[in-house]
Amino acid sequence: MYYFIANWKMQLGVDESVKLAKKIKASYSSSEAKQSREARNVKVVLCPSFDSLESVARVLDSEKSKVKDQRLRIFLGAQDMFYKKRGQFTGEESPFNLQELGVKYVILGHSERRKLGETDEDVRKKLLMALKAGLVPIVCVGETLAERKAGKTKDVISKQITAIFKKSDFADSKVGLRNSKLGAGNVAAGFSLRKVIIAYEPVWAIGTGVFAEAEDAKEVRDFILKLLRKYLPSPHLPLLARGRVRKGEQITVIYGGSVDSKNIFDFLTKGGMEGALVGGASLNATEFLKIVKKGNELRI
Ligand code: 13P
Repeated sequence: MYYFIANWKMQLGVDESVKLAKKIKASYSSSEAKQSREARNVKVVLCPSFDSLESVARVLDSEKSKVKDQRLRIFLGAQDMFYKKRGQFTGEESPFNLQELGVKYVILGHSERRKLGETDEDVRKKLLMALKAGLVPIVCVGETLAERKAGKTKDVISKQITAIFKKSDFADSKVGLRNSKLGAGNVAAGFSLRKVIIAYEPVWAIGTGVFAEAEDAKEVRDFILKLLRKYLPSPHLPLLARGRVRKGEQITVIYGGSVDSKNIFDFLTKGGMEGALVGGASLNATEFLKIVKKGNELRI
């Protein structure tokens, strides 16, 4: 499965978001309708700003009925959320309200939010609350240019991953229940990592037109998987060790940072990425759909 996630940031007004969503939906629907069921191995997620969520949700819903017998795979995502359900938190967004609006995915820990003061601990709390609310979290990690130049990429990634994903928070309940070695308490308390998408977004590649080499991105992806192996019960280990994954049994890692229709293929193949978090290029329906098309041509 490939994920193509459009992060529109604060780039569009409400009407503009609706127009873009309509364009993407219309062309995606017609191109998708031509494909066989098997070929549809792609999920598209649109993440408008909060103020446009409801209107974009309506676009996605209304178009659904137009393509008969097709299960369309365009979903709504939010760009952030708060880590509490309800309370005196002026200006914050409850994940439960997002869910009411039809949101299925939520971006967490984007570097543009971290620049405004968000910490790894904030991201950890948001991650757990998102899972509680039934949203699929897209957790962003990545190093700055200075950190990369100082050869600290893996240190930074390791610090972020271990701070956000606390081992005690995670246990794979489905496998765990079958695995007598795991304590019942551990299983009951745990969330499954299989419900999480991790976006490797090198900060220096965001909005710069400069992107990571696919091979370098793969090294970071493999490192993330290595770090997270210890969170999964043993049945998963051989799968990850082979670098291959079976449907429904993977930790999903995608890439973000100056993705376009020319470089996406390398990230999906040489980079081993299961999709992309796309900023600038997702503001143009034609360009974004070209990116999505690359995923549709490949099979995993
Ligand atoms: P660009 O694709 O514009 O570099 O943005 C990447 C990003 O931040 C997606 O979240």
